[in-house]
Amino acid sequence: MNKDVPDHDASILYYDGDYPSLEIGEPDAGDVAALARLGILGDVAFYKERAAADGGPVLEIGCGTGRLTIPLARAGHEVWAVDVSDAMLAQLRAKLAAEPEAVRARVHAVRADAASLDLPARDFRLAAVPFNVLMLIPDFQAQRSTLASAAAHLAPGGRLALDVMNPLTLPMDEDASAAPSTPRRNPRTGNQYVRRSRCSRLDERQRQRIHGWYEELLPDGRIEMSEFSYHWRMIFRYELELMIEAAGLAVESVAGDFEGAPWTVDSRRIVATAIKK
Ligand SMILES: C[S@@+](CC[C@H](N)C(=O)[O-])C[C@H]1O[C@@H](n2cnc3c(N)ncnc32)[C@H](O)[C@@H]1O
Repeated sequence: MNKDVPDHDASILYYDGDYPSLEIGEPDAGDVAALARLGILGDVAFYKERAAADGGPVLEIGCGTGRLTIPLARAGHEVWAVDVSDAMLAQLRAKLAAEPEAVRARVHAVRADAASLDLPARDFRLAAVPFNVLMLIPDFQAQRSTLASAAAHLAPGGRLALDVMNPLTLPMDEDASAAPSTPRRNPRTGNQYVRRSRCSRLDERQRQRIHGWYEELLPDGRIEMSEFSYHWRMIFRYELELMIEAAGLAVESVAGDFEGAPWTVDSRRIVATAIKK
């Protein structure tokens, strides 16, 4: 699920099963539980509130399959939705095709690398880098370039909002156990599946390889397996603040969740906002 991940990687194919939307399709209690386990039950509402407060077009960096893009556009915002993955953007476009024309017209889907983003518009009121996107650009300089690009596209006084996992809650040693996830439903096939995930030891660049496979139960009883692999680079809270400041932004808030709880060692997430100076 980063720049080097091929289109057929299973993390892309199962994305909407792993990270469901409560606003698109027909969510069930399992979807709510999955988002709660990830600590992102409130993320779409959080970004929608920021967009409503800030007005103007929204730049969404790492839009993926549109989990946030479509709710933003439905709420009336013009969204420039950027992603490096053709396969993720294809899923976004397929979902947009089912939206009313007015919603479709508000979304500009762009394939680009966030680290070297250069859009014609430079007057965004909000740049959102949601749900671990910055971690999934697994290189320190590229992460810094991404924040600099976001800042360059903001109007003066515009806001950056982002969230990443809190690395203090993540395993940093190798974990080869590949324990199965809670069963999930593949939204494309309706079949149940589990994800078995492993991680490498955190390396000197704060990078980790996350890899494993999906096991989907087919109607005839066979199990279909498909592999996934990607890297992320963990970002620590105060490192993130320094990176944001170095990009020419003033940190406005750092919270431990989307409801504004104080950040602690046990917080699931780092949720930060910053203002362009
Ligand atoms: C965890 S997904 C988040 C997707 C979406 N924002 C959401 O909340 O569901 C991370 C996304 O970041 C994208 N991404 C990773 N590296 C990128 C880069 N260098 N430039 C732009 N997008 C990137 C991936 O393709 C993927 O769609």
